[in-house]
Amino acid sequence: MRIFSGIQPTGRKHLGNYIGAITQYVAGQDRGEAIYCIVDLHATTVPYDPVELRERMYDTTAVLLAAGLDPERCVLFRQGDVAEHTELCWLLCSVTAFGDLNRMHQFKEKAGAQRELVSAGLFFYPVLQAADVLLYRAHEVPVGDDQRQHVELMRDIAERFNSRFGETLVVPEHRIPDVGARIMDLQEPERKMATTGGTPQGTVYVLDDPKTIEKKVRSAVTDSGSDVVRAPDKPGISNLVEVLAVVRGIAPEEVEREFAGQGYGAFKAAVAEAVVEYLRPVRERYEQLRPDQAALEAALAAGAEKARAIAVPTLADVREAMGVGAPR
Ligand code: AMP
Ligand code: TRP
Repeated sequence: MRIFSGIQPTGRKHLGNYIGAITQYVAGQDRGEAIYCIVDLHATTVPYDPVELRERMYDTTAVLLAAGLDPERCVLFRQGDVAEHTELCWLLCSVTAFGDLNRMHQFKEKAGAQRELVSAGLFFYPVLQAADVLLYRAHEVPVGDDQRQHVELMRDIAERFNSRFGETLVVPEHRIPDVGARIMDLQEPERKMATTGGTPQGTVYVLDDPKTIEKKVRSAVTDSGSDVVRAPDKPGISNLVEVLAVVRGIAPEEVEREFAGQGYGAFKAAVAEAVVEYLRPVRERYEQLRPDQAALEAALAAGAEKARAIAVPTLADVREAMGVGAPR
C-alpha cells in the first residue's frame, strides 16, 4: 500500500498539525510505502517572502525528521524539486470542474482573508494537491479533518480522468484519525487551531518551550461547569480531553473516567504536563538537526531523486493517455 501526504512549509507547526497529521505520517512508515512532500509550490498561493520560504522549508524538514520520519524508511522531499507536479496539475485541469473549485471551503476562507491579491494559484491549489497524490498513485492520504473536501475532489478528478482517458490513476482514500482530527484553538475552542487566523495564546507550537506550553494550556478557555466530560456545550473541555487522550494513547472515555470529580484545575495541569513531555523530545531533536542546513538539503535532494523515479512514469502514462506530446 502506498501512502502520500503533503504539508505546507509556511508558519510554525502546531499541536493540531502534530496530532492530526504528523503522528500519522510517522505511523505510515510501518504500514506501507510512505511518501511525504513539503509543498513549497502551494505556499506561493498567498503573499509570502521568498527568503523566509526557504527558512521555513528547513524548519519543517527538521520538525518532520525530529518527529520520527526516517529517510531510510520513507520518501521525504520538496515539491518544487519534482517538476512533474506542476505539469500534472495542468493536465488534470482538463478534468476538473470549475464549479467544484469554486465550492472549496478553504479557497473561500483564504480568498476572503486576502487584503490585496486573490491569486489564481489559490483557486487552483486543490488541483495541484490532487496532482501531488495522483502522481504517486497513492492509495491512502493521511490528513486532518480540514482536508476532507480536498481529498474528495482528488477522488473525483481521478475518477473523471479514468473514465475519460482510460484506467490510469489510482483513486485514493483519506485517512483521518478518529480522535484528534480537529484540534481546536485553546482560547477560542469553536475554531480550529491554525497558524493563520488562530489566537497566539490559543495555539501551542511544536517548538514552544515547556513554560510557554504550560501557560497556554493552563489558561485555556473552558466553560463554567466543573465536569471533565465531552459535550457539545463544552468545546474547550472536549478539546482538552481529546488532546490528553491522543498524547497518552488512550481512549477519551478513559480520560473522562480518570478525571471524574477532579475539577478543571487538576485536569488542565495534567494536560499541560502531558503535552510538555510529548513535545519535549521533538524540540530537543529539532535543535540538534536544524543548524545543519547542508544535511537537511542533502536529505531533501535524496528524497526528490526517489520521488522522481515514481513520478516520471506516471506522468508519461498520463501524457500518453491524453495524446499530449510525441507518442511513445
Ligand atoms: P498544513 O500545515 O496546513 O499543511 O497542515 C498539515 C496537516 O495538518 C494537514 O493534514 C491538516 O489537515 C492538519 N491540521 C491542520 N490543522 C489541524 C488541526 N487544528 N487539527 C488537526 N489537524 C490539523
Ligand atoms: N493542502 C494541504 C494542507 O493545507 C497540504 C497538501 C498539499 C496535501 N498537497 C497535499 C495534503 C497532498 C495531502 C496530500 O494541509
